Amino acid sequence: MNDLLLKTLKGEVTSRPPVWMMRQAGRYLPEYMVLRAKYGFFERCQTPELACQITLQPVDIIGVDAAILFSDILVVPQAMGLEVLLIESQGPILPNPIKSIADMSRVRVPDVHETLQYVFDAIKMIKKELNGRVPLIGFAGAPWTLLCYMVQGKGSKTFDEAKSFCYTQPEVAHHLLQMITDTTISYLKGQIEAGADVVQIFDSWGGLWSPVDFEEFSLQYIRQIVHAVKDLAPTIIFAKGAWASIGAMAETGAAGLGIDWCIPPKTAREFAGDNITLQGNFDPAKLYAPVDVIKREVKKMITDFGPGRYIANLGHGILPTVPVDSARAFVDTVKEFDYSTL
Ligand code: CP3
Repeated sequence: MNDLLLKTLKGEVTSRPPVWMMRQAGRYLPEYMVLRAKYGFFERCQTPELACQITLQPVDIIGVDAAILFSDILVVPQAMGLEVLLIESQGPILPNPIKSIADMSRVRVPDVHETLQYVFDAIKMIKKELNGRVPLIGFAGAPWTLLCYMVQGKGSKTFDEAKSFCYTQPEVAHHLLQMITDTTISYLKGQIEAGADVVQIFDSWGGLWSPVDFEEFSLQYIRQIVHAVKDLAPTIIFAKGAWASIGAMAETGAAGLGIDWCIPPKTAREFAGDNITLQGNFDPAKLYAPVDVIKREVKKMITDFGPGRYIANLGHGILPTVPVDSARAFVDTVKEFDYSTL
């Protein structure tokens, strides 16, 4: 059993950092593209055999130290009653987004065992197939990031309509955020019950707020989720761009914090204090550099984070056009690292 990730999240000493990559199951892998050509996106998520097969691909092909469930954060809005489509080259589309209080009648806090049982079934199957080789990470989107899609109806660089919704209809926004929070708590508890060893909360759009507004519209809900699950499984918060709130996130009781490449490792450590594990923060685009540069930069990153309480990862999801050999070079360089040389 490779328990490097679990040990590191507990703050135990290891000989090297564990490594995995956000969005490690995906389009940069030819083996994924074969299944992508045959089955629709949500069909891949909703069929436990397919989700299981895709989850295992990066474990077998790249040799990462953790598996992450193949699914999507948008299965939660679907379970709450909204239609979600994934349209090639356009990304996610929600044809009937939430715009006002009248639309709230279309969303509900569902019984996750009725609506998301396929995820729990996939987790059970993955755990059986993994047979203890590496731990399994479950995940959910942060309430704010889910609200972004539920209100905007599609991807955006600014999520201006979602932010406008929060500023013009704050009571409705808070009601929706609380419904998403309640759903997410039962969803993550179900994932842990089914076998997820760790859970990560993805707040991809947390960095769109000032620190004060981040607390109001995002962190107070993430905190509720962390409190509800932290004694059941170690929890990692990844709030992209929310570096000014690292100190506040470190106080939630989370075991780990994901950080992006816009903050230097040493600064992140100063903000977070010594009592939490940090995860990140390689610029995903740096995987386009020549392999010798990747190796040098990975070693520098590990050295800058210092020995212990550190999980090597990218600062956001791997990009679809990264060469497989470059992803492998990233992972291999971490696996060859030895803290005793520091
Ligand atoms: O990390 C993993 O390997 C697990 C799988 C995973 C997916 N989505 C699969 C996926 C995870 C953890 C996610 C989370 C997710 N989904 C986030 C948060 C993390 C982040 O990247 O910021 C967000 C914002 C989404 C919403 C989403 N799903 C978008 C914006 C897109 C389209 C953009 C894209 O990358 O294609 C998706 C689709 C999606 N989710 C794909 C995969 C593998 C691509 C589907 C395909 O074309 O095959």
